[in-house]
Amino acid sequence: MSHVAKRMQRIAPFYVMDLLAQARKLEAEGRSIIHMEIGEPDFDTPAPIIAAGQRALASGQTHYTPARGLPALRQSIAGFYRERYGTPIDPDRIIVTPGASGALQLVLSVLVNPGESVLMADPGYPCNRHFVELVEGKPVSIPVGPETGYQLTAEMVEAAWREDTKAVLIASPSNPTGTLVSDGEMQRLHDTVQRLGGVLIVDEIYQGLVYGQAGGTTLRFADDLFVVNSFSKFFGMTGWRLGWLVAPQNFIDPLDRLAQNIFLSAPTLSQFAALSAFTPEVMEILEQRRQAFEARRDFLLPALRDLGFSIPVTPQGAFYLYAGCENMCDDSHALAKELLEQAGVAVTPGLDFGAHRPEAHLRFAYTTDLEKLSEGVERIRRFISMSG
Ligand SMILES: Cc1ncc(COP(=O)(O)O)c(C=O)c1O
Repeated sequence: MSHVAKRMQRIAPFYVMDLLAQARKLEAEGRSIIHMEIGEPDFDTPAPIIAAGQRALASGQTHYTPARGLPALRQSIAGFYRERYGTPIDPDRIIVTPGASGALQLVLSVLVNPGESVLMADPGYPCNRHFVELVEGKPVSIPVGPETGYQLTAEMVEAAWREDTKAVLIASPSNPTGTLVSDGEMQRLHDTVQRLGGVLIVDEIYQGLVYGQAGGTTLRFADDLFVVNSFSKFFGMTGWRLGWLVAPQNFIDPLDRLAQNIFLSAPTLSQFAALSAFTPEVMEILEQRRQAFEARRDFLLPALRDLGFSIPVTPQGAFYLYAGCENMCDDSHALAKELLEQAGVAVTPGLDFGAHRPEAHLRFAYTTDLEKLSEGVERIRRFISMSG
């Protein structure tokens, strides 16, 4: 008899991990693989942040910090909202966490009672379902498509609301679709969730990576919601495991207590390094990277459409394209395997993002340079012409 807890039956692995392992195996055999499956920037952490981390290590910053994070870092994050988004936030409402993952775990743990449900979009970030499962809540996935920019709307939330619904989790820009919720719709979502007596959680992890528009924060028009963010994507710090949560004031005490118990604190060196993340020098580097991502999107989007993939909504953020492959196959997982083995291109199958038509979608991440993206497109073109 297995001693593994029953809840683990509901925690699925990432299918892309098998693919990644296969890609590494092929590379070890000498094959060249173009990686478009990876959900993290190819850019290293900006040099000034690394230097700040090295200084912190050299000066012996190797102890715990307060559970809520270094006060100076919470001040800096508040300054970021004020200066970049014109939104003043009380640093007391900010909790520094081990990545957005830590923030999501905290917020769902303090909010969701066993049996309560959390609404979320399908396709969506797969871990969200599992975080809800871990606290014995019920993840309720709502199918979304191009009609709503692959995002939930206030009407959809209202239609799906049940007696046991506690919260709605939105990611804008979204993983895997890169699409945003407009300001007007976010306001309606917020008002609807309030009226229904629930709580809105907005994952803004891709906030800085927005193209063709200024970008913003949901905190601009409300403070009775939770906002999750991270140093992983825009700041290029995935491996440092650092993020944050902005919460309503009356949740700070339970969040602090839980953070003390499950994390003690976010990584100290990472926090000291991140103190340098908001300097003009780093912001300049990050802006150049943002523009590089935009140029990649502008190359890859028409190129994939030209190959026959359907991408009906132009994504305005993150670094993903969620491409319909219904014209070329009825099993995107099999297609992803063939693309890897026969064309040497790694992409993520839709299966990783939910149950709503996953077999008809692949996620392309433009986390590799233009030259490689271009080579990847050519390889797919040859693969399609040979299989067709
Ligand atoms: C939408 C979304 N939220 C949260 C995370 C977790 O990121 P991290 O824990 O590295 O901050 C990711 C990572 O891919 C993501 O795509």
